[in-house]
Amino acid sequence: IRWSAVCLDRVESTNDLLLREEDAGAPEGLVVTAERQSRGRGRFGRRWESDSSGGIYASLLLRPNLALSQAHRLTILTTVAAAEALEEVAGFSPKIKWPNDLIGSQGKLGGILTEVVGDGGRLRGGVVGMGINVSQESGAFPEEIRGRASSLRLETGRVFRRVEILAALLRQIGLRSGSGFAEIRSLWEWRCESLGKVVRVQQGGSLIEGYALGLDEDGLLLVRTEAGAIVPLIAGEVLEAG
Ligand code: BTN
Repeated sequence: IRWSAVCLDRVESTNDLLLREEDAGAPEGLVVTAERQSRGRGRFGRRWESDSSGGIYASLLLRPNLALSQAHRLTILTTVAAAEALEEVAGFSPKIKWPNDLIGSQGKLGGILTEVVGDGGRLRGGVVGMGINVSQESGAFPEEIRGRASSLRLETGRVFRRVEILAALLRQIGLRSGSGFAEIRSLWEWRCESLGKVVRVQQGGSLIEGYALGLDEDGLLLVRTEAGAIVPLIAGEVLEAG
């Protein structure tokens, strides 16, 4: 992948900007970063706090040759790459919480929001947005999330340059784009803290509860329900793990 980055001071959301660029035919490898976002988005239409300096807010445009039904592979790949990048630069191994949260001992320090555009059943473009907390101290987070939000600094006691982490991230994504999905899947499963636990997931209006078993070919989470059915979970949220 040939990366080229546009680094902005302030945008509404790097994902929104890159989705417009995708639509205009921008090439794979375009990266947009911002110092701050006024409307940073998380999954499920939530807000992603983007005001504290010391965070990485970045979106990447990827155009892998995948069926639209395999789009989740993109999220799995970038989550693994992000975990590996943090390990490479900071010597710190985050856990993955399904589908795409990076978790440290003090809470969530990163999240990924993948948004895809399809064209006749194929994936035309995927915008992968990443928020990674790098050098925030706990006082930098809004009160509502203070006990649950972590950063690389809180985990390691050290301060890292964001550009170094972003560079490692892009390198890892480039490397992992060459790996088969079977390998990526096992790396993801190895880091995932949700497997083997009971997860309760809200999906399409109903609540599904089951043991998280692993990922299927498309990158969906397979769970075994109490009735013994194996169900792939497309999107949703782990409400409870125990
Ligand atoms: C989540 O955990 O809910 C995903 C958070 C993703 C946040 C990033 S920050 C850069 C990019 N632009 C956005 O508006 N969101 C993503």
